[in-house]
Amino acid sequence: MHTWVAETTGCDPAVVGFIDIDDTGYIDMLFVDPSAARRGVASQLLDHAERYSAANDIARLSVHASVTARPFFRRHGFRTVETRRPQIGNVVFVNYLMIKPMPV
Ligand SMILES: CC(C)(COP(=O)(O)OP(=O)(O)OC[C@H]1O[C@@H](n2cnc3c(N)ncnc32)[C@H](O)[C@@H]1OP(=O)(O)O)[C@@H](O)C(=O)NCCC(=O)NCCS
Repeated sequence: MHTWVAETTGCDPAVVGFIDIDDTGYIDMLFVDPSAARRGVASQLLDHAERYSAANDIARLSVHASVTARPFFRRHGFRTVETRRPQIGNVVFVNYLMIKPMPV
């Protein structure tokens, strides 16, 4: 697993987000602190992951996107290939398998 962390700049830096990706191109986690939302933090993190994938011949990126994150991934060229309804205990929730082919 490969992880990148986003920090604020300045004399008192703080972590505001992170992404991780495995060697198949699966994005396991992408989170941005709500205090830093809609400022391009996740876009920069995804850009790093895409550069890593391109440099390592990873053919496509994939993610199980939450309902919240789906518009973000769609905006970045991912398409939905499956709507999933995983169950944890008695709770069923919805997420989406989304993929993005990487340029060869
Ligand atoms: C989804 C998430 C990672 C986005 O982080 P972010 O840093 O706010 O995203 P960005 O600022 O880079 O957004 C880029 C674009 O994605 C889209 N986007 C991002 N968040 C969105 C939202 N909540 N609703 C609709 N579109 C959204 C917009 O097009 C946005 O561009 P704009 O702000 O100019 O309109 C963040 O909201 C988050 O951590 N959510 C909770 C955790 C989660 O669901 N993680 C994903 C697990 S798979």
